[in-house]
Amino acid sequence: MDKILIHGGRPLAGSIKVSGSKNSSLPILAATLLTREPCVVHGVPDLSDTHYMLQILIHLGAQVERASGTVTVSADNIGSVAPYNVVRKMRASICVLGPLLGRCKEATVSLPGGCVIGDRPIDLHLKGFEALGAAVRVEGGNVKVFAPKLTGAIINLRGKFGPTVLGTDNVMMAAVLADGVTVIEGAAQEPEVVDLANFLNKMGARIEGAGTRRIIIEGVSALHGTEHDVIPDRIEAGTFLVAGAICGKGITVKRVEPEHVRSTTNALASCGFPISIADHAISISPNGEAKALELTTEPYPGFPSDMQAQMCALLSTTDGISVVTENIFPQRYMHVAELKRMGAEMQLEGATAVIQGVDRLFGAPVMASDLRASAALVLAGLKADGITEVSRVYHIDRGYERLDEKLSELGAHIERVKET
Ligand code: EPU
Repeated sequence: MDKILIHGGRPLAGSIKVSGSKNSSLPILAATLLTREPCVVHGVPDLSDTHYMLQILIHLGAQVERASGTVTVSADNIGSVAPYNVVRKMRASICVLGPLLGRCKEATVSLPGGCVIGDRPIDLHLKGFEALGAAVRVEGGNVKVFAPKLTGAIINLRGKFGPTVLGTDNVMMAAVLADGVTVIEGAAQEPEVVDLANFLNKMGARIEGAGTRRIIIEGVSALHGTEHDVIPDRIEAGTFLVAGAICGKGITVKRVEPEHVRSTTNALASCGFPISIADHAISISPNGEAKALELTTEPYPGFPSDMQAQMCALLSTTDGISVVTENIFPQRYMHVAELKRMGAEMQLEGATAVIQGVDRLFGAPVMASDLRASAALVLAGLKADGITEVSRVYHIDRGYERLDEKLSELGAHIERVKET
């Protein structure tokens, strides 16, 4: 197992390029199951999560070729069963359920296990499949869905924590091959949902309204192969912008879609960091007197839950009292105890973190617990005095392509070592 050592206090400067989006790549790769013809997907980041997804596709019978960021999938003959040993490593494995149901009219996928960021039910995905006419059985740790045929329906996918991203993806992928028209109300509006809809439309699907709360899908009888570039990863972009805020001399994040990170740039600007936005690049400059902030995570276009931990790391070093409320995954605060070990002053009150900014953080051995919490520890380590040792780095490798190398390119003193 690797760990990352960060010698804090080195100012970052220069520019880095954002990789393709993890959360677009995963459902788009799953969607290649909807056609017998080859699909070519460019910009797939080299992450353990994308690797796990390709393993699932291979298990199902697809031919997969990967050459740097380009993945070609040919799913000519496929099975419809994804057992525990192939899906257990990644919760997003559940997004093969929709395309398998759409194409094979049946699918059995092992249920995703627990998750440190909180309870992650799939009741809304299943409600959507049932509305399309599928029967759903949960037995022996598996979910089985089957239907002699799928029929378009009006489905409201809004749950008590708001819309569901992978639920919207899953129902959309099943509905593209249903008879008639499906309307998803309360749909997730995330850019990754739009990217998936664009990919499906290139395959011959008829989807309108992706990016709004109402998606309309007119079923077609078959889809064909296509070629697609995934969008840049807005959470990786946001993470680098926070790195620039926490200890930058001025950095530029390139290959970014500014609209997709608007809530993050707005939050950083409210703290007082000068931001300049060009076509596909965002620069952030330092501010010695950055201010505290009140922040609430919301579905897109609100401030993303996936940036909450990184923002907590930053706010632990800005002057005054910040208040951060997590509305999507109320227990997603694994980073708090670790940041406190580095000298941060923060208290949890239910789903709210109250953060008193401190002048200095101190390097310490800390443990990565999930992807974004781990990123927060690396960011804190960049600022801290002394050496921060982040163990269980495999969490970072699930979702950030070469994070340590990219930070080194910006001037961070960061190294990856084998844990003894
Ligand atoms: N929810 C339900 N029932 C469901 C599905 C979701 O109650 O059937 C609840 C969840 O418990 C949560 C809320 O609805 O409270 C939103 O969850 P959502 O379904 O949108 O999450 P997801 O689709 O499973 C994706 C991302 C997550 C990101 C969330 C929220 C992927 C692969 N994952 O998960 O990304 O945090 O949306 O934006 O797209 C990450 O990249 O680190 C990550 C965790």
